[in-house]
Amino acid sequence: MALLPILCYPDPRLLTVAKPVQAFDVRLQTLIADMFETMYEAKGIGLAATQVNVHERLIVIDTSEGRDAPLVLINPKILWASPERHVNEEGCLSVPGIYDGVERHDLVKVEALDGSGNKHLVEAEGLLSMCIQHEMDHLMGKVFVEYLSPLKRNRIKTKMLKAQREARD
Ligand code: NI
Repeated sequence: MALLPILCYPDPRLLTVAKPVQAFDVRLQTLIADMFETMYEAKGIGLAATQVNVHERLIVIDTSEGRDAPLVLINPKILWASPERHVNEEGCLSVPGIYDGVERHDLVKVEALDGSGNKHLVEAEGLLSMCIQHEMDHLMGKVFVEYLSPLKRNRIKTKMLKAQREARD
């Protein structure tokens, strides 16, 4: 297994729209294992393949307290989303240190494939629901800061670019 580099906002590669996963082969199994290792190491609760510069519809999630409930969503589709929506604070491994409120559906029903290509249905609420919606946005090339005001977004962009420059120096 290996840790994968995570793209940082405003890296333009984060805007890429992912394509469906086609082959459930060894390469995919390695990618899934590496994404889990990368997510756990970074203390994240979700990671989309987009964030590790692989533009395929693959998400890994673990919102459990014990960090022992890995969930793989491949080619996910939202079948139903509750009309009720609430604002919750979100963060993102691609936008380190930034947290802000984003409005999401309270509940979602999602159909996806697992690592072996078997279909499964996830009915999510709370943190898991928020996380799935956040990660599915990544697959569409959308980072959560896009929901914030242009003023806030520009401040975040400036802050991220400064931090990235300082990290290089
Ligand atoms: Ni994210």
